[in-house]
Amino acid sequence: MKKREYLKQLFKRPSLPPSSGTDELIRLENLVKIYDTGALKVMGLKKINLTIRRGEFVAIMGQSGSGKSTLMNILGCLDRPTLGHYYLDGQDTAELSSEELSAIRNQKIGFVFQSFNLISRTSALKNVELPMTYARRPKKERRERAMELLTRVGLGARYSHMPNELSGGQRQRVAIARALANEPPLILADEPTGNLDTAASEEIMELFASLHDEGATVVVVTHEEDIAAFTGRIIRFRDGQIISDQANPHPRRLKKEGSVC
Ligand SMILES: Nc1ncnc2c1ncn2[C@@H]1O[C@H](COP(=O)(O)OP(=O)(O)O)[C@@H](O)[C@H]1O
Ligand SMILES: [Mg+2]
Repeated sequence: MKKREYLKQLFKRPSLPPSSGTDELIRLENLVKIYDTGALKVMGLKKINLTIRRGEFVAIMGQSGSGKSTLMNILGCLDRPTLGHYYLDGQDTAELSSEELSAIRNQKIGFVFQSFNLISRTSALKNVELPMTYARRPKKERRERAMELLTRVGLGARYSHMPNELSGGQRQRVAIARALANEPPLILADEPTGNLDTAASEEIMELFASLHDEGATVVVVTHEEDIAAFTGRIIRFRDGQIISDQANPHPRRLKKEGSVC
């Protein structure tokens, strides 16, 4: 699928049932994902039980192939579980039509990817506007909000830059601004620092931490302990199962003059 079509799938916005207002944002019950590749059936996830409350900042860790992306795709309603239940905001996603799942992706979930997934030859501002365009928000409103968000991530002065005129860290900040466009209650980031150097990675995690301070629920996949250390809860996967789930009572923050955002 072309990138623009893929992003449209992520961001388009039909109507959505009302949210439940419960403290739990995510509840997985006996969740199983089996990939059926014809000759071979691969267990992506094996009976996962997991609850994430509103306002948590969570790291998902584990070796390559342990099921992290499978989990993120299900949490992001990009894929459905084979067995078990995924309740998002009190709703059983198994009962939702594909139109309703599209609405969930547009309104309830902000996606951040390892490879940024920005539209090239399109300004930072227009990239951030995209989910609001699909959501049919008026032009003036979306332009103002996109500017506000770029300013929020420290890129107000670079709104007219194309992605190839920005560093990796700056591109990822544009992608985060885009993820925030429709004020989603859940931010999902699959290895958001995987293509960044250490300094840029830390600034991205600091930005997520500040969003978390403001009440966002953020789930970040990472390979690196130093990156996971920014979060308040670290869940480790192995072979499609959770092998540990620990609170991190002293999340790391960058100590420096002024703020990155
Ligand atoms: N589309 C797919 N088709 C078949 N097998 C898959 C697919 N996606 C993932 N898998 C398998 O599911 C398991 C978990 O993969 P994944 O969730 O991508 O792991 P991680 O993100 O932790 O590296 C692996 O054994 C992988 O090969
Ligand atoms: Mg992965």
